[in-house]
Amino acid sequence: MTNIVKSPQVQALLDRAAGIDQDGGNPRLKAIMRDLLENLAAIIERHDISEDEFWLALGFLQEGAGEFGLIAPGVGIEHFLDLHMDAKDAEAGVSGGTPRTIEGPLYVAGSPLVDGDLTRTNDVNLTTDPDDTETLTMSGRMTGPDGEPVKDAILHVWHANSQGFYSHFDPTGAQSPFNNRRRIKLGPDGRYSFRSKMPRGYSCPPGGATEKLMQALGRHGDRPAHVHFFVEAPGYRTLTTQINFGDDPRAHDDFAFGTREGLLPVPDRSGGNPHIEFDFQLQRARSDEDEGFSERPRTAA
Ligand code: DHB
Ligand code: FE
Repeated sequence: MTNIVKSPQVQALLDRAAGIDQDGGNPRLKAIMRDLLENLAAIIERHDISEDEFWLALGFLQEGAGEFGLIAPGVGIEHFLDLHMDAKDAEAGVSGGTPRTIEGPLYVAGSPLVDGDLTRTNDVNLTTDPDDTETLTMSGRMTGPDGEPVKDAILHVWHANSQGFYSHFDPTGAQSPFNNRRRIKLGPDGRYSFRSKMPRGYSCPPGGATEKLMQALGRHGDRPAHVHFFVEAPGYRTLTTQINFGDDPRAHDDFAFGTREGLLPVPDRSGGNPHIEFDFQLQRARSDEDEGFSERPRTAA
């Protein structure tokens, strides 16, 4: 194996390529680019990557760019971001509450904001399109670190339909824009309750870049049935999480690594239709930033 990455010639190339010898530009970006290029060069050397292989990979990235939002969870990097944030929290002495887990690429901003204050309403329904499957109900409470009810929270919920398709991203074009998507405004007691139609597990789009990559890695591109949440509330840290159905065949084999201990409830079917009782616990916000959302670009409708 050749060993030129650490040679003065290659080191000088990488410095120049990342603009290290220039005053201008963004210093943080330059430092990250420098590391990225050196690691890439080291991988080329370690695996003796050929010209053909390099350009094949670049072509894949170019063609698959529309699916980067799906590839990131598929290769575990979105989950790694969660682990990294968990580790930073632990180091800062921040702990407790419902675990975070990946947002995924399929949130749509601007879904209907509905009244979910259970002193005023007892029927919050997420599913507006006909869906010939069982009704799922979910309820529970939103508390803070001391068990206090969280006042005036907004619970964002989104999930697939019984075909495993999300509204707005449905290849069959069958769904109305906000089917199975709502923002639920809770009351002062922090209690929530909603009904919708039972989702099916999601599979990455057939023939797409994510599926091609999964096949080349000898993996599948399936997720267990799941329901996504953001929780925002004044004075609390915004939570990004999801529940995955604990009795789904893929519950412990999620291609997007979104399943986590504590987020795998098994629906109670003793009353006929599946019901999930799930309590959210939020951390208190330590800064304005904690109360906001990440700046990840999101679809809006
Ligand atoms: C993907 C799809 C999802 O529904 C999700 O929650 C996370 C990831 C994906 O296609 O990568
Ligand atoms: Fe999802």
